[in-house]
Amino acid sequence: MKIDGRQTRSIWVEQDGASVGVIDQTVLPHRFATLRLASLDDAVRAIKTMQTRGAPLIGAVAAYGLWLALGADASDENLERAYAALLATRPTAINLKWALDEVMAAVRNRPRGERVAAAFRRAGEICDEDVAINQAIGRNGLRLIEEIAARKKGERVNVLTHCNAGWLATVDWGTATAPIYMAHDNGIPIHVFADETRPRNQGASLTAWELGRHGVAHTVIPDNMGGHLMQHGLVDIVFVGTDRVTAQGDVCNKIGTYLKALAARDNNVPFYVALPSPTIDFMVNDGVAEIPIEERAPDEVTLMTGKTKDGRIEAVQIVPDGSNAANYGFDVTPARLVTGLITERGVIEASRAALAKAFPERIERGAKSKVQA
Ligand code: MRU
Repeated sequence: MKIDGRQTRSIWVEQDGASVGVIDQTVLPHRFATLRLASLDDAVRAIKTMQTRGAPLIGAVAAYGLWLALGADASDENLERAYAALLATRPTAINLKWALDEVMAAVRNRPRGERVAAAFRRAGEICDEDVAINQAIGRNGLRLIEEIAARKKGERVNVLTHCNAGWLATVDWGTATAPIYMAHDNGIPIHVFADETRPRNQGASLTAWELGRHGVAHTVIPDNMGGHLMQHGLVDIVFVGTDRVTAQGDVCNKIGTYLKALAARDNNVPFYVALPSPTIDFMVNDGVAEIPIEERAPDEVTLMTGKTKDGRIEAVQIVPDGSNAANYGFDVTPARLVTGLITERGVIEASRAALAKAFPERIERGAKSKVQA
């Protein structure tokens, strides 16, 4: 994507060749700042504090995190220690483990002297693969938008999205946003309702920012407004991203996604999930029972941060002193509520059979027997 006319990815290798750069997503949309990650600790902190976030992007950062760790000490012990530290940063998005396992496989059986270069190579490939996957998702999802545009004869297509599954959450393009950017670039009149996505407001601060930068018409809405819009025919299609899809097609995504899927089903609005293959977890079947759901600090709920009239960034308390707050980060939408999964290999049903057919090489040995049962 372009920032001020310059092609920009959300992660890059710095000119020193010894560190990586990322966009600090905690200060957007009010300030654009970048961070230099030069050590394992830097990578761990950036993921934990959500300076860098979004399922595919945290995988990419973790991959480079292993590279940074090996640069300091390429021993087996340090490799295992770094793998564990990075894996513990966030529990829900499976891309994190997928990317760590990919780098691990690339370095584990090599002599120490080759490990740093091998990790660097694999991390770079993971980033390039993410971009290619998202472009393919974009092309496949674009067809869905084109069908609606043809039916509406030039009237604008209204998409509702939740959280930020945009290019900020990936290396480039985004998952749910890739078809939107392609439709916009192809001249299809398109408009996006962006759920604000309490409590961290990724929709209001990140999705709105990137859509605006690209010139895509959008409206930020409170999280509880989508059902009303759907009842009144104002949403043509829902596109969301995902942090983990199970073997049977259950979709784990940012808290609130499930409610949107229920509203979409009740109003016959198609509900699509943009799914890059590293987000599939064939080891898990029942998403509600089996996926670990991240719980974050209550103050993400009790405080709201924003820009004051005189330009200061300030946090204010929005609940009475002493009130408790719960902060589950994700929920699971059962496969039966998902119209389709937009993958790099086409739009497929959210089912065990369709996932296994589209991605047979991803079925790990243990899960394979379950799939065949
Ligand atoms: O907690 P976050 O901001 O990392 O959660 C992000 C989401 O839930 C996204 O929708 C998901 O990672 C898909 S990103 C392409």
